[in-house]
Amino acid sequence: MACTLKNSTPQNIFIYGKTGTGKTAVVRHVSSKLIEKCSEIGIPNIDWIYINCNQVTSGYRVLATICNKLDPENILPPTGTPRDVMIGRLISLLESKKTLCFIVLDEIDALNDKEAKDSVLYILSRLNENLCDSNVNLIGISNILNFKEDLDPRVLSSLCEEELVFPAYNAIELYDILQSRAEMAFHEGTYDPGALRLCAAMAAKENGDARRALSLLRKSAEIVERGCRAKLTQEDVLSAQNEIEKDTTEEFIKKLPVQQKIILLSIYLNQKHRKGEESNSGEIYNTYKEISKKLYSLNSLTSKRVTDLVKELDLSGIVSSRVVSFGRKGGRTRMVSLQVKDSQLENSLEDDERCKAVLDYIPTHIRRSDVNLDLEGNRYKALL
Ligand SMILES: Nc1ncnc2c1ncn2[C@@H]1O[C@H](COP(=O)(O)OP(=O)(O)O)[C@@H](O)[C@H]1O
Ligand SMILES: [Mg+2]
Repeated sequence: MACTLKNSTPQNIFIYGKTGTGKTAVVRHVSSKLIEKCSEIGIPNIDWIYINCNQVTSGYRVLATICNKLDPENILPPTGTPRDVMIGRLISLLESKKTLCFIVLDEIDALNDKEAKDSVLYILSRLNENLCDSNVNLIGISNILNFKEDLDPRVLSSLCEEELVFPAYNAIELYDILQSRAEMAFHEGTYDPGALRLCAAMAAKENGDARRALSLLRKSAEIVERGCRAKLTQEDVLSAQNEIEKDTTEEFIKKLPVQQKIILLSIYLNQKHRKGEESNSGEIYNTYKEISKKLYSLNSLTSKRVTDLVKELDLSGIVSSRVVSFGRKGGRTRMVSLQVKDSQLENSLEDDERCKAVLDYIPTHIRRSDVNLDLEGNRYKALL
């Protein structure tokens, strides 16, 4: 971007990298430094327009936001301005300001439709052709590495004049980031540097995400605060990691599609009434059918499909399953057990009214086998 300081326009830049690799932080940092330096050496009229496409997701809104930031006195209506009118307005606003306008489109992969991606990005990348006294520079930032693949080639060539890839942070870099934050956030002597190193190592091992490393540190500090202790140690980091894992599991369960939730509930109910024993796929399927029909009024999936979904739950670590063979005639079955605590599953499903109602349900086959009558010393199994 240094050529801005010599009054010329830098190339458009496209930045990729996984989340937490510092893309947003770096762009914001560079922009503030650049603005500071420009005003110091007397380069007037620089505009930075930062748009997070996760918040401004449609093509219309992106163009309207740019117009509104250039001219905050005359806000455009939230919908309804014809596109050509808006482009005309954008061009005249830019021309009248005689500016070098940087437009940052952060999380550009969140633009919600192909139309927004192609036509709006096309319009923005061609603005300079219609400008005499002003210039536009585009900075696109994407968390998805193959975002480029479905872009229109015309957009691609102008948006990606220059490309930057942000790699994941390693443990040493994460440690630096954590340390500078810790110096700001904590009083002297209230943290063990070993704890920071552990945070950095754990986040680096996972995916090198600085956001993750920072939230691990924050959670550790919260644990220390809750315990009214004076110093943050490695043990606190380990407890924080446990808490974060617990939170992510609960979040994951909450977001499961309804059929998956019913399958998970079936596994839970069988296990709960069996005092924690594993259950086989037949029992789970029967319970699944009962719940989906009686309590959810849904059409049941086939047993093959349910088995596939159980395997998916297995892959995500929420349940574990193994195939047991009973010899040539006996066939095979899949034994399934829950890998999260009952309380964790209950907590995750408590907000969902229908699931909550199912948590106390007793599957029919368990009711049948459990109800024993004891009449004058003789035990009878009830016929239900
Ligand atoms: N090099 C760095 N120095 C200091 N803090 C950083 C650095 N890189 C990332 N961070 C911090 O880590 C968090 C995530 O970074 P961010 O730039 O939002 O990632 P991205 O945009 O790539 O998802 C932010 O809180 C940011 O301030
Ligand atoms: Mg970001």
